[in-house]
Amino acid sequence: MVKQIRQTDGPRHIAIIMDGNGRWATQRGRPRLFGHHAGAKRVREIVEACPDLGVKYVTIFAFSTENWKRTQTEVTGIMNLFRRYITQEAQALLKENVRVRFIGDRLRLDKKLIKLMAELEDMTSPCTGVNLTIAINYGGRDEVARATKRLAQEVRDGHLDPEDVNEETLTRFLDTHVLPDPDLVIRTSGEARISNFLLWQSAYAEYEFVDTLWPDFSAQELAKLVTSYGKRERRFGRVLA
Ligand code: IPE
Ligand code: IPE
Ligand code: MG
Repeated sequence: MVKQIRQTDGPRHIAIIMDGNGRWATQRGRPRLFGHHAGAKRVREIVEACPDLGVKYVTIFAFSTENWKRTQTEVTGIMNLFRRYITQEAQALLKENVRVRFIGDRLRLDKKLIKLMAELEDMTSPCTGVNLTIAINYGGRDEVARATKRLAQEVRDGHLDPEDVNEETLTRFLDTHVLPDPDLVIRTSGEARISNFLLWQSAYAEYEFVDTLWPDFSAQELAKLVTSYGKRERRFGRVLA
């Protein structure tokens, strides 16, 4: 008997670990930053493909709390790229009706970048199309630690009873509190690890690890992954009849 494949709805929220920029550049005999620039250019095509695929939220990992361990040249280059990206892409994002948010700890970022991030969030706040969330200086453990700190302050100040602390309460303190959990997490470049991305939120996400290096990732490849997601059976701990 052929097993009936249960069709799941398409992923509403896709999270992407955009990995492989450095190797892409090295393969071409170019500095790593060349790969980061090429990688940043891919984002637009991927975001623009989302509405037709039924994807309402896309969250991209751009810089981790661990990425500060790279050389000063690479870190400064990436930070400059973020500033340039925001300045150059703002109008196109607005025109595409994309609502942009940032997650991660902003305190360690440069003042000019923080300002540009806040301006882009404000400017696109009326947008009702795709929700693009960019993770900069983001780490899942750091996020949970920061959330716990704020939660503890609420308890100290008498606004929260420890008896009321549960999964839902903690979720409210996370950077992602307005976003649904990701349904599908994609990592490019062949590495099968999550490197501290959305740890809490991805508890029941489906994962796809693809060999393509991020600067070569295309809307067609995304569409294929969305199709195969539709053939998966998500159980959330249950036994399905
Ligand atoms: C991902 O590409 C981008 C960032 C982490 C900023 P990498 O820079 O990690 O590229 P590889 O993994 O070295 O090829
Ligand atoms: C994860 O990639 C972070 C981003 C894509 C921004 P890394 O390249 O930093 O992860 P590891 O070091 O291979 O685990
Ligand atoms: Mg990498």
